[in-house]
Parts: sequence; C-alpha cells; structure tokens
Amino acid sequence: MIKASDFGSDFSWGVATAAAQIEGASDQYGKGPSIWDTFSKRSGKIKKGHQLVTACDFYHRYHEDIALVKLLGFSVFRFSISWPRLLPYGDGLVNEEGIRFYHNVIDECLEQGLTPYITLYHWDLPQALEDEGGWTAFGINTAFNAFVSVCAKTYGDKVKNWLVLNEPFGFTSLGYMLGVHAPGKTGLTNFFSAVHHTAIAQADGGRILRAEVSGANIGTTYSCSEVIPYTQSDADVLAASRVDCLMNRLFIEPALGLGYPGEEWEVMEKFSISHSTWRHTERLTFDFDFIGLQNYFPLTVKYNGFIPVLQAWEVKAKSMKKPHTAMGWEVNADSFYRIIKQFASYPKIKNLMITENGAAYQDKLIGGTVDDQERIEYFKLYLAAVLKAKGEGMNITGYMAWTLMDNFEWAEGYNARFGLVYNDFKTQQRTIKSSGYWWQDFLKK
Ligand code: NOJ
Repeated sequence: MIKASDFGSDFSWGVATAAAQIEGASDQYGKGPSIWDTFSKRSGKIKKGHQLVTACDFYHRYHEDIALVKLLGFSVFRFSISWPRLLPYGDGLVNEEGIRFYHNVIDECLEQGLTPYITLYHWDLPQALEDEGGWTAFGINTAFNAFVSVCAKTYGDKVKNWLVLNEPFGFTSLGYMLGVHAPGKTGLTNFFSAVHHTAIAQADGGRILRAEVSGANIGTTYSCSEVIPYTQSDADVLAASRVDCLMNRLFIEPALGLGYPGEEWEVMEKFSISHSTWRHTERLTFDFDFIGLQNYFPLTVKYNGFIPVLQAWEVKAKSMKKPHTAMGWEVNADSFYRIIKQFASYPKIKNLMITENGAAYQDKLIGGTVDDQERIEYFKLYLAAVLKAKGEGMNITGYMAWTLMDNFEWAEGYNARFGLVYNDFKTQQRTIKSSGYWWQDFLKK
C-alpha cells in the first residue's frame, strides 16, 4: 500500500479547479461575458442546456470551499483567474471588484496555510476579444500580455506559483477546430492560427511573469495521452504518430526551442513553413521552471482514410472492452506512466508536476454519503504510476487531483462528476465522498 510519505517530504499535494467551472456569478460584480457564457446559451451545445450562471457558487462560498481543501489534507490549491472578471472587455478597463475577489481567495489560502497555484488562462476568454477573432487574431497576444501583466503586478507579491495556460491543445482543438467547445469554431485554418497565437502566448506569458514576479515558479500545463496504434501495421503506426504530434508535441516542442513538430507530415510542414519566421526563434521559447502534465486517458487509434488530414480514428475503450470511466475514457495507469516517461525524456524539462488527474463516475448520494470506490481504486493505480516514474528518477515534484468538487464539466454540463466532494447543484450542499476521506487518510501517512 503506497503512502504519501513515499513521495518525499517536499512533494506537493493539491487539488485543481478552474474559474468558469466553479465560480458562478457569471454576470455579476462587474464581470464581462466569456466565450463560455455565450457558447452555453447556444442551443444544443451543452448537455441538457446547462448554464454557468451559478456553477458551484464558489464566488460566494470560497471561504468554506478552501476550508474543505484544508480539511482533506492538501497543501496546494490550484485555481484560475477569470480574465473577463478582471478585464471585462479583455483589455483596458480593470474591474476592481474582480481584483478584490482574487485577493480574497489568495488571502484565504494563505490564512489556511495553503499554497496558491494560479492558472492564468483556463479557457474563459472574454467574449469582447472573441468578437475580434479570439485566439485566431494576431491582436490576442497584446491583450493576453496585458492581462498577464495585471495579474503579475497585482498578485505577484503574494503568489509565487503560476501556470500560464491550461491545456492549449484542448482549447485550440475542441474550440477552434472541432467546434464542440467555446467559441465553437471549426476548420484547420482557425485551428492553426489559434495554435500559433497560443504558442506565442505561453512563452510571452512566462517572460512577463519572470520580469514582474520575483522568485516566481513558472509553469504551464499540457494534456497528454499515450497514443497507441491499434495494430502494428505501418498505416496504424503512422496514424498514431500523427495524433501524437498534435496531442503531445504541438506546444511543448516550440516552448523548448525545438520549433513545431512533425516536419515529416505535409500539413505540419506547411504550417511550420508559413510560420518560419517564428520557428526556432526566441519568441516561442521559454525556460519554464516546471511543466504541468494532465492525463485522463490513452488513445488507441487506427488508420482511416476517410478522415481528412489526420487519417486516424479513435478506437473507443468500450468497444475494446477495456475498463473506462463515466466519460468513456480508458482507465490505464501503465499508459499514464509511459506518457510521463515520454515527456520526461525531453532533456530541457527541469521539473514535472502532475497538475490534473482524476475520473468521473456515476456518483450517487445515498443516505448522506457518496461511496465512490471506483474513484479510490483509480487514484491508487494512478498514484502508483507516478511513484514508479519518480522512483526511476523522473523529476516529479507534485500531484494535483482533479477536482475539489463536482462542477461545470464544459460541454458535459453538470452531468460528469469528477469531484472529491459531491455537489448538489440545487442546494449547493457539499458532501465529502469516500474518495475525499480516502485522500484525507492517504495524506496523513
Ligand atoms: C482538463 C481540463 O483542464 C478541466 O477543465 C476538465 O474539467 C478536466 N480535463 C476533465 O475533463
């Protein structure tokens, strides 16, 4: 049985959250609309038409919620700053109430003895900026830099741990290529211009933090998934390498100074060439203190010539009769170990931190308790994978569970429950799940 102490006394343990998913008060206290406020009002975009207006009402309940983080035994609280709460139009006017709110959240963490980790961009772009093209527009970089600057100058004395972006591949692919997340744009042209501006933003953001925050520990996060070819045929192996190029390499490699990956693949070669003035140049590169990895599933892919460009198709866990969560995501801790290893093999990465990992299950509140044994088993397996990687010398400095409490799971609305704490969205009553108590016990040992 593994224990928290096996990871060493300087290992950080936390829970991660994001503003849009928990705060609510989405149109109050001077906050401007975000792309998610707009997107969620479009019919058919979010399951059951769920809205973010109230979410977990963290805006009014942060005191109690941060106390829960403490009660469960964690020492780190990761949250994000809502860009439109601070700058309702994206740039220019600063909302003093928004500024105060995050001061309160930070102070609450510090009073409770928790270390705050701030994510600057966790997907809630101000709608005013999307109206000008969002991440596809060149002007986004000026606006983002202004936002980072406000955050760094305002909170940099109190907060030293920063994450520039949350899962850049996630929001550029789902939001600007597939159209299933906000702002709902589609197509390769939108995708690639969003990718490029986002890659610039991650490095620029790092530089601004470095200049403004003395003693800062600066990271950024990536979604990562081991990509497994369905068979060992050349076609499947090549299909898997194309998916790997987009899912795992697209943002880390320019940040490390390696330029965009995938020169052997025509579409990526064209993209790289059209951005050649930027390739291998300083602007895409930043020397991060740590890289945050977020893992939820491996991906098994096979060749499919009918799929444009990628020519790859996902083989679902369910159809392979493999264990999976309520999201249909394969549970496979060995693949978590292997993808950590893949990232650890970049010599320039100094430290890795698992900044999100967790699972959704169909939790039921029965007689005042939620007995989520599957989630406990999930964490046991995944923590063992982290410990194995660490034991082999991979420099992993912390782990954050996703997530503190059930919340707004983007296009899934409130249906997918990932929390260690159950939330009744009608009453906002919080109930610690068995997995929350399991963590409380685990962190004591
Ligand atoms: C990663 C995202 O950062 C987070 O916002 C989301 O809720 C989890 N994945 C689960 O899908």
